[in-house]
Amino acid sequence: MAMTGVLRPGHAQIRVLDLEESIKWYTDVMGLLPMGRDKQGRAYFKTRAERDHNSVILRQADQAGIDFFAFKVLDDATLADFERKLQAHGVETKRIPAGELLETGERVRFQIPTGHTIELYAQKTAVGSTIGCHDPEVDVIDGPGIRPIRMDHCLLYGGDIDGNVKLFTEVLGFTLVERVKLEDGQTDLAVWLTCSAKAHDIAFVRHAEDGKLHHLSFQMPSWESVLRAADIMSIKRVSIDIGPTRHGITQGTTIYFFDPSGNRLETFCGGYDHYPDMQHITWSWEHVGRGIFYHDRKLNDAFLSVVT
Ligand SMILES: [Fe+2]
Repeated sequence: MAMTGVLRPGHAQIRVLDLEESIKWYTDVMGLLPMGRDKQGRAYFKTRAERDHNSVILRQADQAGIDFFAFKVLDDATLADFERKLQAHGVETKRIPAGELLETGERVRFQIPTGHTIELYAQKTAVGSTIGCHDPEVDVIDGPGIRPIRMDHCLLYGGDIDGNVKLFTEVLGFTLVERVKLEDGQTDLAVWLTCSAKAHDIAFVRHAEDGKLHHLSFQMPSWESVLRAADIMSIKRVSIDIGPTRHGITQGTTIYFFDPSGNRLETFCGGYDHYPDMQHITWSWEHVGRGIFYHDRKLNDAFLSVVT
Protein backbone atom coordinates (compact mmCIF):
# COMPACT_ATOMS: atom_id res chain seq x y z
CA MET A 1 0.00 0.00 0.00
CA ALA A 2 1.51 3.25 -1.11
CA MET A 3 -0.72 5.91 0.40
CA THR A 4 2.24 8.29 0.53
CA GLY A 5 3.15 7.70 -3.13
CA VAL A 6 0.53 6.95 -5.77
CA LEU A 7 -2.80 7.64 -4.05
CA ARG A 8 -5.51 6.52 -6.46
CA PRO A 9 -6.90 6.64 -10.00
CA GLY A 10 -7.52 10.29 -10.85
CA HIS A 11 -8.78 10.79 -14.38
CA ALA A 12 -9.37 8.96 -17.64
CA GLN A 13 -9.70 10.56 -21.08
CA ILE A 14 -12.09 8.55 -23.25
CA ARG A 15 -12.62 8.92 -26.99
CA VAL A 16 -16.22 9.17 -28.16
CA LEU A 17 -17.69 9.25 -31.65
CA ASP A 18 -20.41 11.86 -31.05
CA LEU A 19 -19.46 14.26 -28.29
CA GLU A 20 -22.81 16.01 -27.88
CA GLU A 21 -24.69 12.69 -27.69
CA SER A 22 -22.07 11.38 -25.24
CA ILE A 23 -22.28 14.44 -22.98
CA LYS A 24 -26.03 13.87 -22.69
CA TRP A 25 -25.54 10.13 -22.08
CA TYR A 26 -22.85 10.48 -19.41
CA THR A 27 -25.03 13.09 -17.69
CA ASP A 28 -28.47 11.47 -17.97
CA VAL A 29 -27.63 7.74 -17.86
CA MET A 30 -24.40 7.68 -15.79
CA GLY A 31 -25.55 10.54 -13.57
CA LEU A 32 -22.18 12.28 -13.73
CA LEU A 33 -21.90 16.03 -13.16
CA PRO A 34 -20.79 18.08 -16.20
CA MET A 35 -17.79 20.20 -15.17
CA GLY A 36 -17.21 22.26 -18.27
CA ARG A 37 -15.50 22.24 -21.66
CA ASP A 38 -11.99 23.34 -22.64
CA LYS A 39 -10.61 25.16 -25.67
CA GLN A 40 -10.15 21.84 -27.47
CA GLY A 41 -13.82 21.08 -26.93
CA ARG A 42 -13.21 18.26 -24.47
CA ALA A 43 -16.01 17.68 -21.92
CA TYR A 44 -15.25 17.15 -18.23
CA PHE A 45 -17.21 15.19 -15.61
CA LYS A 46 -17.03 14.09 -12.00
CA THR A 47 -19.26 11.98 -9.80
CA ARG A 48 -21.36 13.60 -7.08
CA ALA A 49 -19.08 12.24 -4.36
CA GLU A 50 -15.73 13.07 -5.93
CA ARG A 51 -14.08 16.17 -4.50
CA ASP A 52 -11.61 17.06 -7.25
CA HIS A 53 -12.75 18.95 -10.35
CA ASN A 54 -12.84 16.10 -12.87
CA SER A 55 -12.33 12.36 -13.28
CA VAL A 56 -13.74 11.59 -16.74
CA ILE A 57 -12.83 13.59 -19.83
CA LEU A 58 -14.51 12.93 -23.19
CA ARG A 59 -12.81 13.75 -26.48
CA GLN A 60 -14.47 13.58 -29.89
CA ALA A 61 -12.58 11.19 -32.20
CA ASP A 62 -13.09 8.85 -35.14
CA GLN A 63 -12.32 5.78 -33.04
CA ALA A 64 -13.47 4.91 -29.50
CA GLY A 65 -10.98 3.94 -26.77
CA ILE A 66 -8.82 5.51 -24.08
CA ASP A 67 -6.30 8.34 -24.61
CA PHE A 68 -4.78 8.12 -21.13
CA PHE A 69 -5.41 6.99 -17.55
CA ALA A 70 -3.97 9.00 -14.66
CA PHE A 71 -3.12 8.48 -11.01
CA LYS A 72 -2.99 11.22 -8.39
CA VAL A 73 0.15 11.24 -6.24
CA LEU A 74 0.61 12.78 -2.81
CA ASP A 75 2.35 16.06 -3.69
CA ASP A 76 4.71 17.83 -6.10
CA ALA A 77 7.84 16.33 -4.51
CA THR A 78 6.37 12.83 -4.94
CA LEU A 79 5.61 13.62 -8.58
CA ALA A 80 9.22 14.69 -9.20
CA ASP A 81 10.46 11.60 -7.35
CA PHE A 82 8.39 9.25 -9.56
CA GLU A 83 9.57 11.14 -12.63
CA ARG A 84 13.19 10.40 -11.64
CA LYS A 85 12.41 6.76 -10.82
CA LEU A 86 10.65 6.22 -14.16
CA GLN A 87 13.59 7.68 -16.06
CA ALA A 88 16.01 5.52 -14.04
CA HIS A 89 13.87 2.51 -15.06
CA GLY A 90 14.41 3.51 -18.71
CA VAL A 91 10.97 5.04 -19.22
CA GLU A 92 10.76 8.24 -21.25
CA THR A 93 8.63 10.87 -19.48
CA LYS A 94 7.07 14.11 -20.64
CA ARG A 95 5.80 17.00 -18.52
CA ILE A 96 2.39 18.29 -19.63
CA PRO A 97 1.93 21.90 -18.49
CA ALA A 98 -0.52 22.85 -15.75
CA GLY A 99 -3.88 23.88 -17.15
CA GLU A 100 -3.65 21.71 -20.27
CA LEU A 101 -6.46 19.79 -18.58
CA LEU A 102 -8.96 22.03 -16.80
CA GLU A 103 -8.18 22.67 -13.11
CA THR A 104 -5.28 20.19 -13.22
CA GLY A 105 -1.61 20.79 -12.42
CA GLU A 106 1.46 19.49 -14.23
CA ARG A 107 1.25 15.87 -15.36
CA VAL A 108 4.07 13.42 -15.92
CA ARG A 109 3.10 11.37 -18.96
CA PHE A 110 4.72 8.10 -20.03
CA GLN A 111 4.01 4.99 -22.05
CA ILE A 112 3.87 1.58 -20.41
CA PRO A 113 5.02 -1.65 -22.10
CA THR A 114 1.49 -2.45 -23.36
CA GLY A 115 1.46 0.86 -25.27
CA HIS A 116 -1.01 2.69 -23.03
CA THR A 117 -0.40 6.26 -21.92
CA ILE A 118 -0.35 6.70 -18.15
CA GLU A 119 -0.07 10.00 -16.29
CA LEU A 120 0.81 11.03 -12.75
CA TYR A 121 -0.20 14.37 -11.28
CA ALA A 122 -0.31 15.95 -7.84
CA GLN A 123 -2.69 18.90 -8.19
CA LYS A 124 -6.32 19.15 -9.23
CA THR A 125 -8.66 21.83 -7.91
CA ALA A 126 -10.74 20.57 -4.99
CA VAL A 127 -14.25 21.75 -5.77
CA GLY A 128 -15.88 19.53 -3.14
CA SER A 129 -18.57 16.88 -3.29
CA THR A 130 -22.27 17.62 -3.47
CA ILE A 131 -22.59 17.10 0.32
CA GLY A 132 -19.64 19.27 1.32
CA CYS A 133 -17.15 18.86 4.18
CA HIS A 134 -19.09 20.42 7.06
CA ASP A 135 -21.82 18.49 8.85
CA PRO A 136 -22.78 16.60 5.67
CA GLU A 137 -26.00 14.72 5.00
CA VAL A 138 -25.97 11.33 3.31
CA ASP A 139 -26.14 11.67 -0.47
CA VAL A 140 -29.36 9.90 -1.47
CA ILE A 141 -29.06 7.41 -4.29
CA ASP A 142 -32.41 8.09 -5.96
CA GLY A 143 -32.28 10.80 -8.55
CA PRO A 144 -31.39 10.92 -12.20
CA GLY A 145 -28.88 8.45 -13.53
CA ILE A 146 -26.73 5.63 -12.17
CA ARG A 147 -24.80 7.95 -9.83
CA PRO A 148 -21.60 6.02 -9.09
CA ILE A 149 -19.42 6.98 -6.14
CA ARG A 150 -16.19 7.36 -8.07
CA MET A 151 -14.24 6.50 -11.19
CA ASP A 152 -12.61 3.40 -9.71
CA HIS A 153 -10.25 1.51 -12.03
CA CYS A 154 -9.65 0.38 -15.59
CA LEU A 155 -8.79 -2.88 -17.34
CA LEU A 156 -6.41 -2.47 -20.28
CA TYR A 157 -5.45 -4.97 -22.99
CA GLY A 158 -2.00 -5.24 -24.54
CA GLY A 159 1.00 -7.47 -25.19
CA ASP A 160 3.72 -7.07 -22.57
CA ILE A 161 1.75 -7.28 -19.32
CA ASP A 162 4.86 -8.72 -17.61
CA GLY A 163 6.64 -5.43 -18.32
CA ASN A 164 3.66 -3.56 -16.87
CA VAL A 165 3.77 -5.62 -13.64
CA LYS A 166 7.48 -4.87 -13.29
CA LEU A 167 6.98 -1.15 -13.85
CA PHE A 168 3.95 -0.80 -11.59
CA THR A 169 5.38 -2.86 -8.72
CA GLU A 170 9.05 -1.89 -8.87
CA VAL A 171 8.72 1.79 -9.80
CA LEU A 172 5.24 2.97 -8.81
CA GLY A 173 4.81 0.97 -5.58
CA PHE A 174 1.79 -1.08 -6.64
CA THR A 175 1.11 -4.58 -5.28
CA LEU A 176 0.05 -7.60 -7.35
CA VAL A 177 -3.30 -8.79 -5.98
CA GLU A 178 -4.54 -11.50 -8.37
CA ARG A 179 -3.33 -13.21 -11.53
CA VAL A 180 -4.79 -15.68 -14.05
CA LYS A 181 -2.47 -18.22 -15.64
CA LEU A 182 -2.70 -19.53 -19.20
CA GLU A 183 -2.87 -23.27 -20.02
CA ASP A 184 0.91 -23.61 -19.53
CA GLY A 185 0.52 -22.70 -15.86
CA GLN A 186 3.37 -20.20 -16.22
CA THR A 187 2.33 -17.30 -18.44
CA ASP A 188 0.03 -14.64 -17.01
CA LEU A 189 -3.15 -14.09 -19.02
CA ALA A 190 -4.23 -11.29 -16.70
CA VAL A 191 -3.06 -9.38 -13.60
CA TRP A 192 -4.78 -7.14 -11.05
CA LEU A 193 -2.72 -4.49 -9.24
CA THR A 194 -3.45 -2.06 -6.41
CA CYS A 195 -1.81 1.15 -5.16
CA SER A 196 -4.13 1.27 -2.15
CA ALA A 197 -6.08 -1.16 0.04
CA LYS A 198 -8.62 -1.76 -2.73
CA ALA A 199 -8.69 -5.13 -4.47
CA HIS A 200 -7.49 -3.37 -7.64
CA ASP A 201 -6.76 0.05 -9.07
CA ILE A 202 -5.70 -1.15 -12.53
CA ALA A 203 -5.68 -4.50 -14.35
CA PHE A 204 -4.18 -5.86 -17.56
CA VAL A 205 -5.04 -8.71 -19.92
CA ARG A 206 -2.54 -10.13 -22.43
CA HIS A 207 -3.77 -9.31 -25.94
CA ALA A 208 -2.32 -9.34 -29.45
CA GLU A 209 -2.93 -5.62 -30.00
CA ASP A 210 -1.44 -2.93 -27.73
CA GLY A 211 -3.15 0.12 -26.28
CA LYS A 212 -6.67 -1.26 -25.96
CA LEU A 213 -9.38 -0.45 -23.41
CA HIS A 214 -11.45 -3.31 -22.02
CA HIS A 215 -13.40 -1.24 -19.53
CA LEU A 216 -13.47 1.83 -17.33
CA SER A 217 -15.11 1.09 -14.00
CA PHE A 218 -17.23 3.10 -11.60
CA GLN A 219 -17.73 2.13 -7.97
CA MET A 220 -21.27 1.71 -6.66
CA PRO A 221 -22.21 1.83 -2.95
CA SER A 222 -24.14 -1.47 -2.74
CA TRP A 223 -25.38 -4.56 -4.59
CA GLU A 224 -28.85 -2.96 -4.57
CA SER A 225 -27.42 0.05 -6.36
CA VAL A 226 -25.87 -2.25 -8.98
CA LEU A 227 -29.34 -3.75 -9.57
CA ARG A 228 -30.79 -0.23 -9.73
CA ALA A 229 -28.13 0.62 -12.33
CA ALA A 230 -29.25 -2.40 -14.38
CA ASP A 231 -32.86 -1.16 -14.24
CA ILE A 232 -31.76 2.28 -15.45
CA MET A 233 -29.78 0.63 -18.26
CA SER A 234 -32.88 -1.22 -19.44
CA ILE A 235 -35.09 1.88 -19.15
CA LYS A 236 -32.51 3.84 -21.16
CA ARG A 237 -31.95 0.93 -23.63
CA VAL A 238 -28.24 0.73 -22.80
CA SER A 239 -26.36 -2.19 -24.39
CA ILE A 240 -25.43 -4.59 -21.55
CA ASP A 241 -22.50 -6.96 -22.07
CA ILE A 242 -23.08 -9.10 -18.97
CA GLY A 243 -24.61 -8.88 -15.52
CA PRO A 244 -25.60 -8.03 -12.93
CA THR A 245 -23.30 -10.78 -11.67
CA ARG A 246 -20.20 -11.31 -9.54
CA HIS A 247 -16.52 -11.64 -10.28
CA GLY A 248 -14.64 -14.50 -8.57
CA ILE A 249 -11.56 -12.32 -9.01
CA THR A 250 -11.80 -9.46 -6.47
CA GLN A 251 -15.22 -10.93 -5.45
CA GLY A 252 -16.89 -7.69 -6.53
CA THR A 253 -20.36 -7.43 -8.09
CA THR A 254 -20.56 -6.07 -11.60
CA ILE A 255 -22.35 -5.07 -14.78
CA TYR A 256 -20.42 -4.61 -18.01
CA PHE A 257 -22.18 -2.31 -20.48
CA PHE A 258 -21.35 -0.02 -23.38
CA ASP A 259 -21.47 3.74 -23.85
CA PRO A 260 -22.93 5.02 -27.17
CA SER A 261 -19.46 4.83 -28.79
CA GLY A 262 -18.91 1.19 -27.81
CA ASN A 263 -16.55 1.85 -24.90
CA ARG A 264 -17.18 -0.81 -22.26
CA LEU A 265 -17.93 0.58 -18.79
CA GLU A 266 -18.52 -1.22 -15.50
CA THR A 267 -20.57 -0.54 -12.41
CA PHE A 268 -18.70 -2.34 -9.67
CA CYS A 269 -19.33 -2.85 -5.98
CA GLY A 270 -17.45 -4.60 -3.24
CA GLY A 271 -14.22 -6.45 -3.51
CA TYR A 272 -12.13 -7.33 -0.49
CA ASP A 273 -9.47 -5.14 1.11
CA HIS A 274 -5.90 -5.93 0.17
CA TYR A 275 -2.78 -5.13 2.19
CA PRO A 276 0.79 -5.51 0.96
CA ASP A 277 1.54 -8.39 3.35
CA MET A 278 -1.15 -10.57 1.74
CA GLN A 279 -0.11 -13.26 -0.72
CA HIS A 280 -1.57 -12.65 -4.17
CA ILE A 281 -4.28 -14.99 -5.46
CA THR A 282 -3.58 -17.21 -8.48
CA TRP A 283 -6.26 -18.62 -10.80
CA SER A 284 -5.51 -21.55 -13.06
CA TRP A 285 -6.71 -21.63 -16.67
CA GLU A 286 -9.36 -24.28 -16.00
CA HIS A 287 -11.09 -21.99 -13.48
CA VAL A 288 -10.79 -18.71 -15.40
CA GLY A 289 -14.52 -18.69 -16.27
CA ARG A 290 -15.47 -18.83 -12.59
CA GLY A 291 -12.82 -16.23 -11.84
CA ILE A 292 -14.18 -13.69 -14.32
CA PHE A 293 -17.93 -14.46 -14.02
CA TYR A 294 -18.55 -16.36 -10.81
CA HIS A 295 -22.17 -17.36 -11.49
CA ASP A 296 -22.01 -18.28 -15.19
CA ARG A 297 -18.65 -20.01 -14.57
CA LYS A 298 -17.66 -19.38 -18.18
CA LEU A 299 -16.36 -16.46 -20.21
CA ASN A 300 -18.70 -14.85 -22.68
CA ASP A 301 -17.32 -14.42 -26.20
CA ALA A 302 -17.09 -10.66 -25.82
CA PHE A 303 -14.80 -10.66 -22.76
CA LEU A 304 -11.63 -11.62 -24.60
CA SER A 305 -12.46 -10.14 -28.00
CA VAL A 306 -14.42 -6.86 -27.75
CA VAL A 307 -12.15 -3.93 -26.88
CA THR A 308 -11.84 -0.31 -28.01
FE1 LIG B 1 -13.38 -3.95 -13.52
